[in-house]
Amino acid sequence: MLRKSVVLFPLMVAATLATAPTSAFADEPSPQLKTEAAGLVKEYAGNLQAVLKGAMAAGGPANAISVCHEQAPEIAADISQRSGWTVKRTSLKPRNPASAPDSYETKVMKEFQARIAKGESAADLVKAEIVEQNGAKVFRFIKAIPTGEVCLNCHGTEVKPELKAKLQELYPGDKATGFKLGDMRGVFTLSKRL
Ligand code: HEC
Repeated sequence: MLRKSVVLFPLMVAATLATAPTSAFADEPSPQLKTEAAGLVKEYAGNLQAVLKGAMAAGGPANAISVCHEQAPEIAADISQRSGWTVKRTSLKPRNPASAPDSYETKVMKEFQARIAKGESAADLVKAEIVEQNGAKVFRFIKAIPTGEVCLNCHGTEVKPELKAKLQELYPGDKATGFKLGDMRGVFTLSKRL
């Protein structure tokens, strides 16, 4: 036991030193930045949920597809404008092509998938980091979105034919079906130039 840790410790230090420079900045994001980002995610998620719930109650999933189509991008744009942050959703399998991920988001979502495969829950996954983008420091905050029961209507493995047809019409390149309960559907992705 003792021998093992004596051998492992220098290896661990060496590994840390070797990988540190790849995450652009050593700066730790401040707790204020993280709190602000978490607050915006809560507001964004709450608005989306309210709109979805209202639209489902008013006219079922077919109606909710139209409402989501019109309002989801508006909600993100509105919160971004008011906060000065960039606030969006993205996915490895996006429905709206305008929500396709950038390379950083793809990397983080793949890390999340790997953690989920090892047993972590999509509901718990968050990454907050300061990175360099085009010579500027940018704070990036990514929070996984788990697939809940209601989501399966439009993102599940058995989307009803009439809904599928409607989705195909609005999103001909739709990749966002085939999800199961608890899967990571996508992420909230926020960024702010520092
Ligand atoms: C009534 C159908 C419907 C339901 C139910 C639904 N969605 Fe969606 N979802 C959509 C549509 C339509 C879009 C594309 C919106 C747009 O144009 O930006 C979308 C987009 C998304 C996106 C953005 C990335 C992408 O693929 O474009 C995420 C993330 C997402 N949905 C997650 C969820 C989650 C989580 C739930 C359950 C809480 C859910 N959705 C329930 C229809 C639905």
